[in-house]
Amino acid sequence: MTPSSLQASAVPTACVIGWPVKHSRSPIIHRHWLAELGLTGDYVRHPVEPEHAADFFANFAGGPFIGCNVTVPHKEVAFASVAHADAVATALGAVNTVWLEDGRLMGSNTDAEGFIANLDQLAPGFDANPGAAIVLGAGGAARAVIWALQARGFAPIHVVNRTRDRAEAMAERFGPDIRPADWDDLPALLPQAGLLVNTTSLGMEGQPPLNIDLAAARDDLLVTDIVYIPLETPLLKAARSRGLQTVDGLGMLLHQAVPGFERWFGRRPVVTPELRRLILADM
Ligand code: ATR
Repeated sequence: MTPSSLQASAVPTACVIGWPVKHSRSPIIHRHWLAELGLTGDYVRHPVEPEHAADFFANFAGGPFIGCNVTVPHKEVAFASVAHADAVATALGAVNTVWLEDGRLMGSNTDAEGFIANLDQLAPGFDANPGAAIVLGAGGAARAVIWALQARGFAPIHVVNRTRDRAEAMAERFGPDIRPADWDDLPALLPQAGLLVNTTSLGMEGQPPLNIDLAAARDDLLVTDIVYIPLETPLLKAARSRGLQTVDGLGMLLHQAVPGFERWFGRRPVVTPELRRLILADM
């Protein structure tokens, strides 16, 4: 090995694993923070096929990574693979951030924290008087959002989903304040709610739009979407033209990256407008 390649292999490197993972923006985020904070380190995409995910985690302590983010479809395998999962990851049954402690694989889930931190930054005080909320969708992303809203005192949380069983599974997981509902129930639910969150893939580039009638909404309804491609989804556009406050989903992606970076590289980074612009320029 030449001195320069020795040096290269000594750079502490984290990664994002998923399948596929080539569209992940995480390397842009983490490399921006490394440069901004003047730290030595790197962050790369690491594609792992589903049949190899369990092996990846089983061999993690052998290197070469100091930690990783975990994205679709590996979050549940990661949860099953870590020696210890923190309270949020345990509640969600999914791990998106992994690191080593004394050679043991540790796991956390930062999606809920990312969702809330985005609202705290862009709609401060959104939970000053938490009441009823509406969550559209009942997949993995909805789980993190529901956990976060419960932690901030929202109740009841109406979970609107095409497949009723999945909304009912949310009530089993999170308790009686979670109320399964159908899309047809929305007009009756809207006048009660102070917060509406889309966690479905509807409105995402290449997916059908999410068209809902917001006429019955309260004037103080806050509308947020976890879809961020495009940044202004049809839902957010409709909400704005109805005069409602909106928060887009890009910040959730940025904020969920903060705790992992801090664990791996030892400094807590900040989500700035500059970082938002950097990601938007890449879209
Ligand atoms: P994620 O982990 O990202 O949340 P997911 O588990 O596949 O992804 O969940 C996607 C969510 O979008 C689900 O709530 C799904 O509804 P179903 O549970 O009925 O499948 C919702 N969704 C996706 N496409 C939809 C569509 N065309 N109409 C209504 N809901 C849709």
